[in-house]
Amino acid sequence: MKSSLSDALFLLFFITTQSICYITTNAAGENVVKDATGKKVLNGVPYHIGPVISANGGRIKLTDTMNNNKICPFNVVQDPADVNLGGQFMFTLIAKKKYLLTSTILAIDSGYPKGACEKSTFWTIPNVLEPPPSSLITTGGLFDQSFTCFQVVEYPKSTSPKVHSYMLQHCPSFCGAGPGTCFNVSIYLDKGVRRLAATGDTPFEFVFHKLSK
Ligand SMILES: *[C@@H]1O[C@H](CO)[C@@H](O)[C@H](O)[C@H]1NC(C)=O
Repeated sequence: MKSSLSDALFLLFFITTQSICYITTNAAGENVVKDATGKKVLNGVPYHIGPVISANGGRIKLTDTMNNNKICPFNVVQDPADVNLGGQFMFTLIAKKKYLLTSTILAIDSGYPKGACEKSTFWTIPNVLEPPPSSLITTGGLFDQSFTCFQVVEYPKSTSPKVHSYMLQHCPSFCGAGPGTCFNVSIYLDKGVRRLAATGDTPFEFVFHKLSK
């Protein structure tokens, strides 16, 4: 009697630890970001990003012009037309990894565009607690700072069930000093221009597209 009880307990212990192992390894395998075709997204390599379906507008790009004035640093906007390739953005995890992971802190680099603006090229949100323009995404940040701290999160319910879609969160305190929470990045409509900002609206759902060679 005694031994069968301990046998049963051992079996229970065995099953429990096995399923915990299964869950953790499975979760670790699942958090690699996938592109629109289902391929793993490489860390620190340029990609285009855009909405899941083209009816929701075009891809994300930089703009050097706002209200007919040249600006520096640049703003990050959604192209109204769904025919253009969009900008090339390099999502780089703070930790060195081969593939991009969800819910892991990273910086987003726009690369050096041609022109006179010599600001640095990392996306930044100057002050997430203030309304736009402070909470708009611009270039001009530095790697691994609270202002440039983002993470890619799986979109809760993809518009297209067959595609992995994501949303972006700004998490200042994960990289440095700042508000101890994450802020969803959404589209902020500003005089007809769709700009990326952390305004607390519905998160912008997007997919990764490999650059065409
Ligand atoms: C961010 O977006 C998700 C998905 O829409 C939502 O569930 C969550 O409450 C939002 N978080 C904040 C802080 O607004």
